Amino acid sequence: MHAVIQQAKPLQGELALPPDKAICHRAVLLAALAKGSTTIHPWPSAEDCQRTLALVERLGVRGQRSANALTIEGRGLRGLQAPSDPLLCGESGTTLRLAAGLLAGQPFASQLAASPSLSRRPMRRIVEPLTRMGARFEGTASVGSSEVYPPLAVHGRFPLEPIRYELPVASAQVKSAVLLAGLFARGRTTVVERHPTRDHTERMMRHFGLALSQEGPEISVEPGEPVSPGAVHIPGDASSAAFFLVAASCVAGSRVTLRQVSLNPTRTGLLDVLRRMGAACSVTATESPWEPRGTVTIEARPLRAIVLEAAEAPSVIDELPILMVAAACAQGRSRLQGVGELRVKETDRLRSMAEGLTKMGVRVSVPSPETVEIDGGTLSGAEVESAGDHRTAMSLAVAGLVARGRTTIRGAECVAKSFPEFFDLLGRLAGSPTVKTVDKT
Ligand code: S3P
Repeated sequence: MHAVIQQAKPLQGELALPPDKAICHRAVLLAALAKGSTTIHPWPSAEDCQRTLALVERLGVRGQRSANALTIEGRGLRGLQAPSDPLLCGESGTTLRLAAGLLAGQPFASQLAASPSLSRRPMRRIVEPLTRMGARFEGTASVGSSEVYPPLAVHGRFPLEPIRYELPVASAQVKSAVLLAGLFARGRTTVVERHPTRDHTERMMRHFGLALSQEGPEISVEPGEPVSPGAVHIPGDASSAAFFLVAASCVAGSRVTLRQVSLNPTRTGLLDVLRRMGAACSVTATESPWEPRGTVTIEARPLRAIVLEAAEAPSVIDELPILMVAAACAQGRSRLQGVGELRVKETDRLRSMAEGLTKMGVRVSVPSPETVEIDGGTLSGAEVESAGDHRTAMSLAVAGLVARGRTTIRGAECVAKSFPEFFDLLGRLAGSPTVKTVDKT
């Protein structure tokens, strides 16, 4: 599928976004380990979330969909069954890395299989701590490096050894894998996180009655069985919201309101950055003790260039591609630092975004492996590639709304990984002649 985007008139309207993908993964995994049933509402159509659901179903967990919700009949901490076939993770890194933590504590072996792009993503970061806890892994080695790639064979063990683990990379997936394995350990497991990353696993563990505590950078979990809270209400996806926040900031005359969106402070980094760039946004939080949420209204303003400090990068990790678009629309040269992790996402996002924006007439340079600089200016429509990466496709679509003329995004079907409704919703705000999708001929 290609997406064809014309320069947009002002975007106007209100949207409710699909439920947060990162939170949904955690809800399914903990519901699977709890006794009794948990209803997750709403349940998204994002492909990655279906992968996590299918994976727990292969471990003997029953999931039942109804209208907009999913009900999971959990099997308890020790109730998962050995799978007879490999567990397919598709392109979902969160499915694979979090499931590895859960499978590390099982008294059986399993196989985590991946589709092509996930097979090229580094897994040593999870294999190392989980091996220290007593599980054993076999993956694909790479010549001349100690990196490990999927498929991964997991030889689980129960109980695991508790560890104190300092994260060598700022990664919520690694943190979550270790905390999930900690439920099967013989004592308290601690993860030390120097640069805060999204804290959905911690919040979800507390929501499921687990003993999770935090002191400064140290996050500890006691072994134990999750207790279902009955229902889990998922806020709108903060990373999906990002595309609309930047689109409304950059297309002159726009005003867009996003309802029931996640306001988790570990996910709202983009709002802070956009405010520093001069964006006009107002936020109204609604009462929610578990995962904060609320309404965000954003209006277009002329943006100015930004310097993103390396320490800020984890708070906008999935928003960096769309932040590159905001920088391309701002006045002056922006410098985004600490962005090296972008190279090991679904694709090398630094490269896919630099290639797309360069084709659209933007000057992008990479002065060091961790830094990108972007000169704001006038964008011109062009034919660009998604590189099979959902966030690249959606970011370039937003760039297309600002660019003069017509932009074609090739390979746009990959948005289904996180946000199948993206082009429909964008078309609703921008007008359908502005946003079209066409099947490849
Ligand atoms: C995620 C964590 C981040 C993010 C990914 C989802 C999660 O990955 O990029 O899209 O749900 O924990 P890393 O942990 O590799 O930074």
